[in-house]
Amino acid sequence: MNASSMFSEGRSAEIVVASFGADTDPRLRKVLGSLVRHLHDFVKEVELTNEEWELAIATLTETGQACTDVRQEFILLSDVLGVSMLVETINNRSLELATESTVLGPFHMVESPPRKQGDLIALDGKGEQCLVTGRVTDEAGTPLANAEVDVWQANAEGFYDVQQPGVQPDRNLRGLFTTDEHGEFWFRSIVPRFYPIPVDGPVGRLLAATHRHPNRPAHVHFLVTAEGHRPLVTHLFVKDCPYIGSDVVFGVKESLLRDFAQVDDPARAVELGFDNPYRAVHFDITLLSETAQETGR
Ligand code: BEZ
Ligand code: FE
Repeated sequence: MNASSMFSEGRSAEIVVASFGADTDPRLRKVLGSLVRHLHDFVKEVELTNEEWELAIATLTETGQACTDVRQEFILLSDVLGVSMLVETINNRSLELATESTVLGPFHMVESPPRKQGDLIALDGKGEQCLVTGRVTDEAGTPLANAEVDVWQANAEGFYDVQQPGVQPDRNLRGLFTTDEHGEFWFRSIVPRFYPIPVDGPVGRLLAATHRHPNRPAHVHFLVTAEGHRPLVTHLFVKDCPYIGSDVVFGVKESLLRDFAQVDDPARAVELGFDNPYRAVHFDITLLSETAQETGR
C-alpha cells in the first residue's frame, strides 16, 4: 500500500473508487462510484455519529427482516423517500401527449380476471356506484383496438381484496378489459377511498418520527398494454380527495386528477343497474409507440 491509497477523511471516496478493479463493468463503476461519492459527502455533511450509524444499520436490518412473500418493506422505504417515483419518472419520460405514469404499488399481486365491457367489478356491491369510461389512443390520436386495460382499486373503506380475505370476495375490484374497435373501454365500479400504507414496521416508525401521515389519496390503478406500444402504469386519482396534495409515496401528478362527478339521470341509471344519482369518470389514455422519441417533461 503506498501513501496515496491510504484512507483519509479528505480523499475517502476517491480512495474507495480507486480500489475498483480495471475489469469492473463500466456501468457498475459509474453507479457504485457515484453512490460512494454521495454517501461519503452525506456522512461528512451531517458528521454522522457512531450511534446514528448503528441506528441506520439496525433500521436497514429490520427493513430486510420485515420482508415476506407478500410484503416488501425496502420498496416501501424507497416509496416514502420519493425514490420510487423519481426512478419511475426518469424511466418514463413521455412526449407531451402521452399519459403520465406513476408507481405500480404492491397490490397488483394477483391476476385481474378478464372482464367484458360494462362489467361490474364491485363484486360485493358495496360503495358509491361509479361508471368508468375511457379511450386508448396512440400519441397521434389513433384509437388502439385490442389494448388491454388492467384495473385494480381499493374499496370504499380503503382496503384491497388481498388485505381482506374472507371479507371481500376474491378478485373484488379488479378487471382486465380489452378495448373495442374505437379504442374504448367501460366498466362499472365504486368510488375508492384513500388508505394508509402498512405502518407496523420500520417505515411506519420513520413516518411517525418525521410527523407524516401514512395515506395515499383515493385512486384506481391502470396497467395498459398494446402491441407495438410502451406499457403504461398509471393511476386515476379522485380529484377532491383530502390527501391529493400529500400522497405519502409522492405518486400524484396533476394530469391524472379527475372529477368523479355526480350524475343525475334516472333513465341511464336504470340501464346501468345503478341507483340514481351515481358517479361517473372519464379517463382517456395515450400510449407511446415503441418508436416514439424520448423527451423530458
Ligand atoms: C398502491 O398504490 O397500491 C401503493 C403504492 C406504493 C406503496 C403502497 C401502496
Ligand atoms: Fe393503490
